[in-house]
Amino acid sequence: MRLILMTDLHLRDPEGSAESSAHAIFVGACLDRAAAICPDADCCILTGDLADAGETGAYRWLKRRLDALAFKSIPLLGNHDDRDAFRSVFGGDGFCQSVRQFGAMRLVSLDTLNPGSDAGNLCATRLEWLDQQLRDAAHTDVCLFMHHPPCDIGDPILDPIKLQNTDDFAALLQRHGNVKQIFFGHVHRTLFRVWNGIPCISLDSIGAASTGRSQSHTPALGLVYQTDEGLALTLRI
Ligand SMILES: [Fe+2]
Repeated sequence: MRLILMTDLHLRDPEGSAESSAHAIFVGACLDRAAAICPDADCCILTGDLADAGETGAYRWLKRRLDALAFKSIPLLGNHDDRDAFRSVFGGDGFCQSVRQFGAMRLVSLDTLNPGSDAGNLCATRLEWLDQQLRDAAHTDVCLFMHHPPCDIGDPILDPIKLQNTDDFAALLQRHGNVKQIFFGHVHRTLFRVWNGIPCISLDSIGAASTGRSQSHTPALGLVYQTDEGLALTLRI
């Protein structure tokens, strides 16, 4: 299994301004770079804040670019996204959660968007869905993808806007015991920590919030490889 990770694109409608257009070109170059580095990827996963202000034009541009890739993509929602606008372009209904199997690893993506709040939430419906997925994967290692971190990262501004119902989430993961890795976005920095025994990783953001500008200044492309001993992450610019 080979995955490409990107997060927090913060796209604005490229037709809206020269700055938004320049940022879309930058995001396109990141996707081209990812495809060049890992042409045999199974999937590209984007962990939310796809659009900076939930604009339909931003989602339209992104869908065109993702559809042109030689591999599948899994776009997640973040607090800057608009679920209805996203659905109007990418299709589907309800929460944007998915499950895929690549090699021996089950990939589960979560929708932590809580409209009107920068903090994340997994309501009873979403937690029940996750409970079912983890039950179905009882003998399979699971890798979770979500926008909001379930844990503090030591930042006084970001910690209050992490996932809000972490106790319910932690209890559910502990009950099943098969989640081996969590990737999240939201915090716009590359970091690693272990939370309740589960390794958690985030990458630097591709875009800056509320500006329509490009941001990444550290390695912002993640390549995840499955080895016989678990997942290995390589960071690339
Ligand atoms: Fe963001």
